[in-house]
Amino acid sequence: MKNYISHDEWCIVENGFHPENNEITESLMSLGNGRMGQRGNFEERYTGKTLLGNYVAGVYFPDKTRVGWWKNGYPNYFAKVLNACNWVGIDVQIGDEMLDLGKCQIDEFRRVLNMKEGVLERTVKVTLSGGRQLSIHTKRFCSMADDESGAISYSLVPLNFSAECIITPFLDGNIRNRDSNYDESFWNEIAKESGDHAGYLTLETKENPYGVEQFRVTTGMKFEIKINGEPTQLESQTFTSEKYVSGSIKCTLKESDNLTIYKYAVNLSSANYAADELLPSAKTYIDRISEKGFDQMYAEHVQVWADKWAKNDIVIEGNVAAQQGIRFNIFHLGQTYTGEDERLNIGPKGFTGEKYGGGTYWDTEAYCIPFYLATAEHKVARNLLVYRHKHLQKAIENAEKLGFSDGAALYPMVTMNGEECHNEWEITFEEIHRNGAIAYAIYDYTRYTGDQSYLSEYGLEVLIGISRFWKQRITWSTDRNKYVMLGVTGPNEYENNVNNNWYTNYIAFWTLRYTLENVSRLWAEDTQALNEVIHKTGLKLNKELGEWKHIVESMYFPYDENRKVFLQQQGFLDKELLTVDDISDHRPINQKWSWDRILRSCFIKQADVLQGLYFFEDEFDSETVRRNFAFYEPMTVHESSLSPCVHAILAAGIGLKEKAYEMYVRTARLDLDDYNNDTQDGLHITSMAGTWMSIVKGFAGQRVKDGVLVLNPYVPEQWNAYSFRIGFRGSWLKISVKKREVIIENTSETALKLLVKGREIAVGSLETVVV
Ligand code: BGC
Repeated sequence: MKNYISHDEWCIVENGFHPENNEITESLMSLGNGRMGQRGNFEERYTGKTLLGNYVAGVYFPDKTRVGWWKNGYPNYFAKVLNACNWVGIDVQIGDEMLDLGKCQIDEFRRVLNMKEGVLERTVKVTLSGGRQLSIHTKRFCSMADDESGAISYSLVPLNFSAECIITPFLDGNIRNRDSNYDESFWNEIAKESGDHAGYLTLETKENPYGVEQFRVTTGMKFEIKINGEPTQLESQTFTSEKYVSGSIKCTLKESDNLTIYKYAVNLSSANYAADELLPSAKTYIDRISEKGFDQMYAEHVQVWADKWAKNDIVIEGNVAAQQGIRFNIFHLGQTYTGEDERLNIGPKGFTGEKYGGGTYWDTEAYCIPFYLATAEHKVARNLLVYRHKHLQKAIENAEKLGFSDGAALYPMVTMNGEECHNEWEITFEEIHRNGAIAYAIYDYTRYTGDQSYLSEYGLEVLIGISRFWKQRITWSTDRNKYVMLGVTGPNEYENNVNNNWYTNYIAFWTLRYTLENVSRLWAEDTQALNEVIHKTGLKLNKELGEWKHIVESMYFPYDENRKVFLQQQGFLDKELLTVDDISDHRPINQKWSWDRILRSCFIKQADVLQGLYFFEDEFDSETVRRNFAFYEPMTVHESSLSPCVHAILAAGIGLKEKAYEMYVRTARLDLDDYNNDTQDGLHITSMAGTWMSIVKGFAGQRVKDGVLVLNPYVPEQWNAYSFRIGFRGSWLKISVKKREVIIENTSETALKLLVKGREIAVGSLETVVV
């Protein structure tokens, strides 16, 4: 655990440079705008510890699979989000010395990520050779308003000397993914161009034998220089080399002169532009933004953030660390995915690092959808669902590769384009519960929005594909006279190849039932829509629905009659049942124990049975939740960041307020305090949505029941009060929870009736009600 980031309500502040933590700070201070993102790297050269990271959404490379022993069914490649051209770089030479914070003496240093405005600022004073003191101030953002661009303002003031300076803004495509399987570069240069105060570089991903689309990205820059606020006409000297373009300005700075360079950059990808349109479009784009200028671009960018915060902010009174933690999570979720493009999704690390390849996991459906559903227009969450619909055919092909047939769909564990990338048999082939989360998200969306149209237009097709998979994956056990599911890995990856994982059995059963219900509903309400789905999927009504119904009626769920708890898998009670307290010196077990020891132990990586009780809480009474929580929570080591939030929500629901808070704290400052010692790899973006859920679904008890918004709020003892903002079916609400009252402010014109602690409350248009 680290504690070098200062607590502040709106800012992430590094006071004084911490070179040993620089890669952590770079992750924390990452910027993005849904289309591109980059780590909080320095603009100028830096020879210390750093992970230079620039990413363009949707641009990836199929990196040849690397495994010890090949198993049939493994995918050929792991798609990696590409570390792309460095567009932020500005080399600074003072006299004959190159500015490098890894080499010079740093007298003052402050790096601040201002989350309210989405801007990264740095104020630094250094001493160069000969006692020359220089002050630097930088400001940078990835524009939310012009989302294929970013801008930098970089100022220098010589404090006690005059010297000739050379300032060299550049674009550098000599970048490799740190996580590349064979240490290869994934980029080829296609074209470069440099001109007066401008440069363009077009790179293309290398050819691959897998038929995966090659991407081109044109990065462009334009810059202007002001000295003491006055524009200068200094000539720029261009220089190019392999995958590199720069333009240098030479000038003499006198003591106290202020030189500011404004660098504008764009990243356009062939996912959005025809290849021959990339360069002309980049030029037009960059001309447009540079004409606006830094200040106007900045003002427009800040306005987008203001609109976002008006929909999603959470205010916590009486605890600055908690306030900073939740805003940090909301900020990163907001800049990772904006919902503008249904081809994009949310990687577990967003644009903040390379781990997990930037691919899409079940994290999106199980954790992120509720956040976007409640804090953005419905189209944002809907686009996340459409993403999976677009991949349905690939999911059918994925299943075929494993021997399934007749339209059975198995969605990948990790994907960029719908094809499976994961290559560990116990996960790729066995962690099939991910299919269920994709079905659940359709339910979650429909329940929250009340919009059934997604189901008839897209959702039912997906449900049918997934149901067909479950039908084929489940087997009939004559011995038990029940349907069983053999050889799976549940959400708890610390048990593999188990039979009858309760969670997977339940979500399969639930999907089949939900699909049947929706077929019946459409049959009654919209036969034309049903006929279209039947036409598209070839659904055999009598045969397939009959088979699914039989499974729903006869599915096996492992259960312990003595303890009255569901069993994580049928053999779970054969294990030695210890608690986490018994092994406190051994944690984290994934670093201290052999895999063999982990697999045989009772210790649970992340919510598993409890994940099911969280999803399907309406189907179980609170005594059942309480018993299962009491049984599984003491064995859970939470070595996945996705775990504590589920425990927090359940604990809050059954009145275990201390436990709920303990679990919340674990998620809220996970990255800020580097709790798991891995923030340098990037942030836990998908689990950030879990932190939001811990407050809104946990402490505030937000649910939707029979189409009605329900709240059961309380204030954790550690806080004085809190407020959050959510949208529900056209209304936008600010809900302030105090120790003795709840204030509901309707900031929209749409009236709403909701249930607060069981009481029906009506809030009219723009009205405030105190409960
Ligand atoms: C978790 C998975 C998760 C993945 C990506 C793993 O550690 O066990 O459930 O999908 O991380 O976040």
